[in-house]
Amino acid sequence: MGLGTMGAGIAEVLARAGLSVTAVDVGADAVERGRGHVEQSTARAVARGRLADTERDEVLSRIRFSTRMADLADAELVVEAIPERMALKAQVLATLDALCPPDTILASNTSSLSVTELAVTTGRPGRVVGMHFFNPAPVMKLVEVVSTVVTEPSVVEDVEALAARLGKVGVTIGDRAGFIANALLFGYLNHAATMVQDGYAGREDVDAAMRLGCGLPMGPLALLDLIGIDTAQEILATMYRQSRNRLHASSPVITQLVTAGLLGRKTGRGFYSYAAPHSGEVV
Ligand code: 3HC
Repeated sequence: MGLGTMGAGIAEVLARAGLSVTAVDVGADAVERGRGHVEQSTARAVARGRLADTERDEVLSRIRFSTRMADLADAELVVEAIPERMALKAQVLATLDALCPPDTILASNTSSLSVTELAVTTGRPGRVVGMHFFNPAPVMKLVEVVSTVVTEPSVVEDVEALAARLGKVGVTIGDRAGFIANALLFGYLNHAATMVQDGYAGREDVDAAMRLGCGLPMGPLALLDLIGIDTAQEILATMYRQSRNRLHASSPVITQLVTAGLLGRKTGRGFYSYAAPHSGEVV
């Protein structure tokens, strides 16, 4: 449910593991963008010799794209990957709770909201779990499986087994803002944005320092553009509400980029400018 960058990536990961997927978003445009995302990503895998043409066709044929949430009524597991807003997620989970059989697992790809709070908005809190993928979902090997005080142990085991079937490494943790990876990552990303904002260092130099000096695959500003500046801002806001740690108080430049609609790769411009929206090619 939800076919933004993460939702489309997750649909692809599930389909590439041989599962039948129903990929839903609310508007026809969003569904077409999601379909385009999967087509582009699988085409890239074919071009790199990671997927045969016939396999690509099979992957695409396993995904049924739809604008109707009712099409999720027979799902064994639903992964929601809609925007990081509690009220919106709670509303979608309530709809899924009413639609799906009582044993369907409702998994949230939330990156910072409380899974416990989401779980108790449903009539099946024991079958709600966090399943947090990383961007780009087809590439990154980690899934954080978030178990709350009410999650049934068998649900955690099922989701761990699913993560393994998807070729991912699952780490199971409790419910805390940012879980492991984002809790450690976002203070660093925010600090990098502040260095650029203050004029202390240029964006290329900050990124080069972390790539070439610390061996990271990507510098922090390029990574913010990949994640999406709006998503980063929402994650920082949630973490700041919980931690009150100024490390998580969004750098003004992040807020300004969001206000200006410069959200990173997905809009074609963020800290860097790209050849086209969704492209990784910096111009
Ligand atoms: N979608 C699908 N596949 C992609 C992709 C995308 N957007 N971008 C790259 N790939 C694939 C390529 O096809 C290639 O596959 P191959 O190895 O099978 O040929 C592989 O990834 C490597 O790509 P490239 O050679 O083009 O480029 P790089 O070696 O620079 O890798 C990268 C690109 C994988 C994005 C790498 O730079 C990286 O790991 N960056 C860090 C990403 C990261 O930290 N993600 C986590 C963000 S935090 C998060 O997601 C949490 C959330 O809550 C915000």
